[in-house]
Amino acid sequence: MGNPAGEDLEEKTVVFGITGGIAAYKAPMIVRGLKRLSLDVHVVTTDSAGYFVTPLVLQTLSGRPVLTEMFSEVPGSSYEIDHIALADQADLFLVAPATADFLAKLAHGIADDLLSCSILATKAPVLVCPSMNVNMLSNPATRDNIETLKRRGFHVLEPASGELACGWEGAGRLPEPDRIVSEVKMLLSRHDLSGINILITSGPTCEDIDPVRYITNRSTGKMGGAIVEAACLRGARVTVISGPVGIDYAPWATLIDARSAGEMLDAVRENLAGCDVLIMAAAVADYTPQMYSQNKIKKGEKMTHLELDSTPDILSTIRPLKESRIFVGFAAETDNLKTYAQDKMIRKGLDMIVANRVGEKGSGFASETNSGVVLSQEGVLYDFEHMAKETLAHKILDLVKDKL
Ligand code: CTP
Repeated sequence: MGNPAGEDLEEKTVVFGITGGIAAYKAPMIVRGLKRLSLDVHVVTTDSAGYFVTPLVLQTLSGRPVLTEMFSEVPGSSYEIDHIALADQADLFLVAPATADFLAKLAHGIADDLLSCSILATKAPVLVCPSMNVNMLSNPATRDNIETLKRRGFHVLEPASGELACGWEGAGRLPEPDRIVSEVKMLLSRHDLSGINILITSGPTCEDIDPVRYITNRSTGKMGGAIVEAACLRGARVTVISGPVGIDYAPWATLIDARSAGEMLDAVRENLAGCDVLIMAAAVADYTPQMYSQNKIKKGEKMTHLELDSTPDILSTIRPLKESRIFVGFAAETDNLKTYAQDKMIRKGLDMIVANRVGEKGSGFASETNSGVVLSQEGVLYDFEHMAKETLAHKILDLVKDKL
């Protein structure tokens, strides 16, 4: 299985290099995030990083001494040469923030401190997170260095834009610690779905009555979001078509917004050709108002009833285009879970259906966990009870993988 709570990252070692930029103040939060994934974290700082963040906080959070000197000892391997020991132990090097000066060093193979020397000696992947003043970042020297590093296989997480500590506005901000930790998680995950294109629908649809009111349902997009993240971590190329939700999808997925059932159908049709797997996790509204009022309907207009039309059933509509693709549906049911779900699977021509209980605590809409059953044409594949949506997402992908 993938890594629901970082479980296959437990044995992995990250060497976290911090260089001397103001954004180094975010480094302790990054260490905390990495530790939450159960990673073994070795912090290496350059001399100038010490002006921005103290070793005490870093060593307390990482549970290991902070290394700076070329000739200090790596714990447990004191007979080894430090930079080589670090280079060999690492499953990944992370440098955040990476200053313009440090990027220049890496791009030119300069190895005059413990961090640059270890990176030169490692075979592990390296993720660098540049952060600096906007003009330093756009300087052709820096751009060339970043391009050189990318060409050589370094992973570069481009800086975010916004207000910079130096007073300028623009690109150069270190991405938030959570974003950096996610990138580490992605790079260390087993990419067992690489080369697979997955189209996922998620969230509710909203059927507008007038510019103020609409019909919708209780879906929050949590289950769809968990599948999107799990699929991205496992190396799949993911497109998510989402109704209006308050969650953020994994940053590696391509996001397409679709408000209504009609818009979602159009988006699914447009994106189906390139996909190997379609996972319809969206709770598509079944009815839409017959008429949309351009103006707000006033109370005095005494709207006593609403004429509704059925929305198009997306799965049934695209069924003729299925070919060899794997189609996975969801069924949200309050009762007769298996019977209703099985009927839907057959009626909609699905390979698999995830039936989950709604209307009870700990399952369904807005909940962190789900209970239910996964069915395929062959029968029950998997029963789950109050399972974290993140874990269930990986399980669903395991079952999909078996069918590929
Ligand atoms: N679905 C769809 N188009 C719709 C409604 C639902 O493609 N207009 C998909 C959902 O994304 C889900 C599956 O069909 O994968 C079952 O959705 P569900 O709402 O449980 O079933 P319905 O077909 O709407 O039937 P009912 O509301 O009667 O249970």
